[in-house]
Amino acid sequence: MSELPAPDRPEYAFVGRSNVGKSSLINTLTNKKKLAKTSATPGKTQLMNHFLIDETWYLVDLPGYGYAKTSKHQRTGFQRMITRYVLERENLMNLFVLVDSRHGPQPIDLEFFEFLGMNGVPFSIIFTKIDKLKEEELADNLAAYKKEMLKAWEEMPPVFLTSSSDRRGKDEVMAYIHGIHPMFER
Ligand code: GTP
Ligand code: MG
Repeated sequence: MSELPAPDRPEYAFVGRSNVGKSSLINTLTNKKKLAKTSATPGKTQLMNHFLIDETWYLVDLPGYGYAKTSKHQRTGFQRMITRYVLERENLMNLFVLVDSRHGPQPIDLEFFEFLGMNGVPFSIIFTKIDKLKEEELADNLAAYKKEMLKAWEEMPPVFLTSSSDRRGKDEVMAYIHGIHPMFER
């Protein structure tokens, strides 16, 4: 992966189904409206984008997985790119897997968690678009999600609840990132 920046600073990547809100969350975290390109049409992010933050660490926007309307060829290409990236990127400190808080556990996400677990890739889950749910609905969805995951996992990974509309969860995600930085070793 010679086209990537040198792995000389800690890096955090955002991955998940197309349209889940990866690019929007990156903009929210960085307080920049147009750093990462967003779109109501799934399949917006087509390349891996590295953003250097405070000249000290990287945020990475990845293309979405599992979007049916991209060509099969392209889908396979994205999947291969993501797989290779998470397995080989030596400065990747944590992978944030985004899931839409409105939906129950999707097979493609559960399979991806399993793949990460088997390969020892540290990850957290970010439930996005929580502004679209009432508090009770969110609590119910979360409980159902955890119940399903705990069939396969002994414990939950770290979980964050976010909204790029009202910026909830931003401080928690940033605090988590800053807490991990010191573990980076060149
Ligand atoms: P791809 O690059 O296509 O994989 O999508 P993405 O995961 O980067 O999603 P993106 O950030 O482009 O957002 C997709 C759509 O969801 C856009 O219309 C956003 O405005 C909307 N969206 C993202 N986050 C939120 C959120 O927290 N709340 C609400 N209400 N809408 C959101
Ligand atoms: Mg995107």
